[in-house]
Amino acid sequence: MLVTEQERLRDDLVKMADRFGRDRSALMPILQELKRTRYHISEYSMQVIADLLDIHPVEVSSVVSFYSFLEDKPQGQFVIRLCRTIACDMRGADHVARQLVNDLGIEFGETTPDGKFTLGWANCLGMCDQGPAMLVNEKVYTQVTPEKVHAILDECRGTFGMHATADKER
Ligand code: FES
Repeated sequence: MLVTEQERLRDDLVKMADRFGRDRSALMPILQELKRTRYHISEYSMQVIADLLDIHPVEVSSVVSFYSFLEDKPQGQFVIRLCRTIACDMRGADHVARQLVNDLGIEFGETTPDGKFTLGWANCLGMCDQGPAMLVNEKVYTQVTPEKVHAILDECRGTFGMHATADKER
């Protein structure tokens, strides 16, 4: 019998619910695991999660939209998320935001045409006394300044350069 993609996804979600629990407290761990393994969170998976945890689908989708890093759109290889919560804002996050927009040539919520960078917002990253704080994939940067933005983007581009060379050599 042919197993459809939806059935496979459902099986994976059942395993995650077995592992993390079948109540509301398992919601974030399941969403993070799903994002890590499948890169996006579809409407269908939100419905299955709601069924498994016996909560309303609206609750699942509002958590997904609150935590921008769980967004269900395809993302770039480097996902940059600048904290937009008040403490970072007061420490100059808007200057950093402007620099990111200038350097990347995209607005928040967009991905560069080459698929390398996605720019987005994050809510408080727990680094309020060292703001502005920013995440690049899993890595946290603190006390980010417009000048540091150049260095951080160069660091990311450098990783690309290495991949591109390695790919060519193959
Ligand atoms: S307000 Fe930005 S890390 Fe807390």
